[in-house]
Amino acid sequence: MDIASRPAEPAENTQIADAAPPPAAPPVIRREDYLPPAWLIPEIALDFALGLDETVVVSKLSVRRNPDGNGTATLRLNGDQIAPRAVTVDGTALNDWKLDGPDLLIELAGDAHEVAIETVLNPAANSQLMGLYASNGMLCTQCEAEGFRRITFFPDRPDVLSTYSVRMSGDKATFPILLANGNCTAEGEGEDGTHWAEWHDPWPKPSYLFALVAGELVANHATFTTMSGRRVDLNVWVRPGDEGRTQHAMDSLIASMKWDEETFGREYDLDLFNIVAVSDFNMGAMENKGLNVFNTRYVLADPDTATDADYDAVEGVIGHEYFHNWSGNRVTCRDWFQLSLKEGFTVLRDQLFSADMGSEPVKRIEDVRVLRIAQFPEDSGPLAHPIRPDSYQEISNFYTATVYNKGAEVIRMMRTMAGEEAFRKGTDLYFERHDGTAATCEDFVKAIEDGTGLDLARFRLWYSQAGTPQVSARLEHDGRIARLALTQTVPATPGQPEKAPMPIPLRIALFDRDTGTHAGEHLVILDGDEGSFAFEGFDKPPVLSINRGFSAPVAIEMEREDEDLVFLAANDDDPFARYEAMQSLVLQHLVAAVGGGLDEARRASGRAAIGRAMKAIVTDPELDDLMRGELMILPAESYLAEQLLVSDPGVIHAEREALKAWLGLELADELKALHDRISAVPYSRDAAARGARKLKTQALVLIASGDAGEGAARAIAQYRKADNMTDRQGAVMVLAGLDCPEREEALADFLARYEGNALVIDKWFSLQAGSFHPRVLEQIHALAQHDEFRMSNPNRVRSLYMAAAVNPQAFHDASGAGYAMIGELIRKLDPINPQTAARFVPALGRWRRVEPGRAAMMRAELEKIAAVPSLSRDVREQVTKSLG
Ligand code: ARG
Ligand code: ZN
Repeated sequence: MDIASRPAEPAENTQIADAAPPPAAPPVIRREDYLPPAWLIPEIALDFALGLDETVVVSKLSVRRNPDGNGTATLRLNGDQIAPRAVTVDGTALNDWKLDGPDLLIELAGDAHEVAIETVLNPAANSQLMGLYASNGMLCTQCEAEGFRRITFFPDRPDVLSTYSVRMSGDKATFPILLANGNCTAEGEGEDGTHWAEWHDPWPKPSYLFALVAGELVANHATFTTMSGRRVDLNVWVRPGDEGRTQHAMDSLIASMKWDEETFGREYDLDLFNIVAVSDFNMGAMENKGLNVFNTRYVLADPDTATDADYDAVEGVIGHEYFHNWSGNRVTCRDWFQLSLKEGFTVLRDQLFSADMGSEPVKRIEDVRVLRIAQFPEDSGPLAHPIRPDSYQEISNFYTATVYNKGAEVIRMMRTMAGEEAFRKGTDLYFERHDGTAATCEDFVKAIEDGTGLDLARFRLWYSQAGTPQVSARLEHDGRIARLALTQTVPATPGQPEKAPMPIPLRIALFDRDTGTHAGEHLVILDGDEGSFAFEGFDKPPVLSINRGFSAPVAIEMEREDEDLVFLAANDDDPFARYEAMQSLVLQHLVAAVGGGLDEARRASGRAAIGRAMKAIVTDPELDDLMRGELMILPAESYLAEQLLVSDPGVIHAEREALKAWLGLELADELKALHDRISAVPYSRDAAARGARKLKTQALVLIASGDAGEGAARAIAQYRKADNMTDRQGAVMVLAGLDCPEREEALADFLARYEGNALVIDKWFSLQAGSFHPRVLEQIHALAQHDEFRMSNPNRVRSLYMAAAVNPQAFHDASGAGYAMIGELIRKLDPINPQTAARFVPALGRWRRVEPGRAAMMRAELEKIAAVPSLSRDVREQVTKSLG
C-alpha cells in the first residue's frame, strides 16, 4: 500500500479496530528453520521480449518433486512486485493458482510437471535496481540476493540449481548487443528491425547468478588460454566512448585467470567470459556465471581520470568477481546465512591476489585499516552479527564488512595455523567434495580440517560469535625467561550476552633492545580465557612485537612505553608491526588527550615522541615510498572513537587536527623537502612512481595543516602541473578544505574539465563533501541542489552523502544539522532505492557511543525515520535494531 491509497486519519475518539495498523515488523528468517526445497527445477527456459518500459517474460520450468523434501503438493514460487499474466501446467491453462502475499502457489498432482508463467515488467520504472532494470538506455539485471523473483516466479533460493536456456528478442537499434550467461548458441533477424539471440549455460546454477544485458555496447576483446590449453574469449563491454578506459580491467582479468590457476589450481570452465560495465548499480559488481556485471567505477580507468587507488580497486574487484567462478558459482551457498562461505573466502582470495600483484605488506596494512574503520564499529554496535548470522529480516542488510572482511580474516587465520601448503590441500578438498553443490560454512571448515589435519572444533566459534575479541597482553622478565601472559574477553553483542573464549593465533617476536633484532618468530595460540607462554634466553627484558601481520582480527590491549613503540616503529622487520607500532604510539597519545588526561608536560613529551618517530619515517632512506606513505597515516577518527566507550566526536576531531598541525610545523622543512623530491618523479605506473604520488598528497596534507598559505600555494601548483588524476585529486582534496581563492579556481576547473564524465564528477562531489572546510555543511546542502546531483544514481548519492556521513566535521556538527541531513536523505531515498538508503542507517545507529547531547539528536533522527509508515524492509530492520 502506498501513501495515496491509505485512508485519511480519523480526527479523534479512534477505536483500535478502526485505526491504521502500526507498521508491521517484517518476518524474521532463521538459520535453524532451514528445510530442503520441496520441489526442484532441473531446467528453466526463459523468453524475453525486450523493451525499456515493457518487457514480457515467459518462463518454462521443469518441476520435479525433491525426494529429500517434505512431500507437499504445493509448489511455492517467490515473487516480488510482479503478477502472473498466464499460468499453464503441462500445457493446460490453469485458473486456480493462488497468491500468498507476493508468492504464487500452484497445486501439483504428480511428481513431475512442466509449468509456464508469463509476467510483464517495466524496467524503466525499476528504481530499486534489483531484477531487470534500465540504465543509461540499456537493460541489465541484478539478481543477488533476491532479485530474480522480480523477473519471474521461481523458488528463489540458492539451493535450487537449474540449467538455464535464454532467448531474447528486441529492437536491433536499441539493443544491438544481446548477452546472457554461458554461450551464445543461435542468433538471427526478426521482423520490423528486431533481432534475437539464444544463450545456454551448461553449468547448473541458482537463480541469483542469472544475468541478461541488452544495449548498445562496445567490447575490448582478448583471449586467454587456460592451463589445460582451452581458448577462452574475453570481452569487457562498455558504452561507446568508454573503450579507451578498459585496458586495465582486461589486464586485471587475464592476471586473475592465471593467478587462480597457479595459486588455487582453479581453471575457467566456459569458452566465453563477459564483463559489462553499468553506471547505475547498488554495489560494486556481480559474479553472474560467465557474465559479470560491474559498476563502471570498477572497470573504467586511465591516468587522466583514475587515481592509483582506483586502479587498485579495479584490479581487486575484477579479481574478486572472477574468483567467485569457483568460490561462489561452482560451489555455491545452501542458504543466505552461509553468505560468508563465498564472500569471506573470495575476499581472502582477492586480497592474496592483490598482494601478489603489488606490495604484500602495503596490501595487508590497507586491508587491516578497512577492517578497523568499517568492521570493528559494526562489531561493537547495535547491528553486530556473527560472520554466519542466525537470523535476518532483509538479507541485503547482511552484505557487510563482517560477512566479507571479518569472514576473510577468519579463513586467513586457518591458513596461518595450517601453513600455505596444507591450506591448499584443504581448499582442494573443499572444491573436490562440494563442486556442483550448495554448501555450508560447516562444509568448508570440515574440508579445511580434513585437508590440513588441524583440529578446528573450538575454532568454529568464530563463525557463531559476534564481537571483536579483546586480548590483553603483559610481558614479564624473570632471570633469563620472558613470560607472555595473555587473557581474552569477547564482548557481549545483541542477542549474545555470554561468549566462550576462541582460539586466537598470534604471531609474536621478542626483540633485543641493543641489537634491534630477534631470534625468530613464534606462533602462539591463545585457546582459553588466559594463557601464559615462556621464552628462554633473555638477559634483559625484550621488546614484544605481537599480532604481527595482524594474524588475528582482535584488539590488543597493552601498557606500552612510548620508547618501546618508537623502537618498534624504527626496527621491526615485520612491516605491518612497524605500522602498528606507529599507530599505537599516536593512538595512545590521542586517546589520553581526548580523555582530558594530558597535562602540558605529557602532551609535549607525547608529541615529541611522535615527532621523532615521524621524522625517522619521513627521512629513512631504506623505506620505499609506498610503505613510507602507510607509516605516515594517522589512525582514523572512527578507530579512535572505538577505543572509548563513549566519546565526543568534536573533541576527537579537534585533537587529531591539532596533532596534524603540530606535525606540519614541527617537520615543515622535512615535509617540504619530501614534497619537492617526489614532485620531480615523472608519471608511470611502476611502484616507485605510485609511491611518490601517494606521498606527494600526504606531505601536502600535513604541510597545509601546519601552514595553510604554504599548503594552498603548493596544492594549486600541484594541480596546475598535474598530468594524472592522483596528483590532481590530491591537490583538490587539500584545497577543498581551505578557505582560499585557489580552492574556487581548482574546483571550477575540475568540473569544467571533466564535464560528462560521471565517475570524475562523483569525485568532485565527494572531495567537497569530505572536506574539513569550516562551512562544509552549507556546501553539501548547495551540492544537493546542483544540476549534476541525481537521487536515482547510487554512485552520485554515495559520492555526496556517504562522503558526508563519514566526514566527522559534517556529520557530527554540534548543531545536529549533519544528523538531520542524513535522516532526511534516508527518508527521501527509501521509496526510490531501499537497499542504498539502508546503508546510511549505521552512521546514526552509533548513538550509544557518542556524548549525550549528540546522542539524543541522533536517536531523534532514527525515531523520525521509524515513524514513516511505508518504510522498506531494508530500512525498517536497520532502524529498529539501531533503536533497540
Ligand atoms: N556477490 C556480489 C559480490 O560481492 C555482491 C552482490 C550483492 N548484491 C546485493 N544487491 N546485495 O561480489
Ligand atoms: Zn563477492
